[in-house]
Amino acid sequence: MHVDVITIFPRMFDSVLGSSILKRAVEKGKLSVKVHNLRDYAEGRHQNTDDTPYGGGAGMVMKVEPVVKCLKAVEKKKKGYKILLTPAGKTFDQKTAKKLSGKKNIILVCGHYEGFDRRVEDYIDEEISIGDYVLTGGEIPAMLIIDAVSRLLPGVLGNAESIKYESFMEELLDYPHYTRPADFKGKKVPAVLLSGNHAAIAAWRKEEALKLTKKNRPDLLVRTEKKTRTAVRRTGS
Ligand code: ADE
Repeated sequence: MHVDVITIFPRMFDSVLGSSILKRAVEKGKLSVKVHNLRDYAEGRHQNTDDTPYGGGAGMVMKVEPVVKCLKAVEKKKKGYKILLTPAGKTFDQKTAKKLSGKKNIILVCGHYEGFDRRVEDYIDEEISIGDYVLTGGEIPAMLIIDAVSRLLPGVLGNAESIKYESFMEELLDYPHYTRPADFKGKKVPAVLLSGNHAAIAAWRKEEALKLTKKNRPDLLVRTEKKTRTAVRRTGS
């Protein structure tokens, strides 16, 4: 997959792309990311990318011309699925990550201040928010999307199991994990995990995932509770 990013803070991407699994994905040729400085496409001595809002009010608005010019230059080389990061977009989730992981090229446009001049909507395919809160800009949301999408690309994660478990994740939170020591200051690892009984372990994990989902994310259970209960019963908890 190739990702183009359009931003006024290109350096913000250095550490995320230069570390851990994303770094390895780039080295293995599974992912390439090119970060474009929006300021390079702005006119005038100060190369302003923002201006005061028509109609008055607080804050600044990002200008439409630089982003349209930048998109044109980027798409001259590679056409892509164009996403604007904005708190006013559709909420990003695992399903959207999966959808995007099927695209060859995506272009992420990072907003700032009070957002872009609305006319930018005619030049993009989708508006995405990463959640119901307002950040200082679209860079962290863009990195989050790159991370969530890249790990779904074939060959990026070392362990095939991690992806297999993903379909389970869409309905329930992950089950609790434990590693050595078996006893930490009197807090013991659940005995079933040391039993070697794989059916009992699988049933315990499903039951615990269900409990945790009920406690932390009851909204996930509204649609799927019945289905999950049947599955838990079938594995014999
Ligand atoms: N820019 C500022 N806040 C954002 C959010 N929650 N999602 C996407 N882009 C943003």
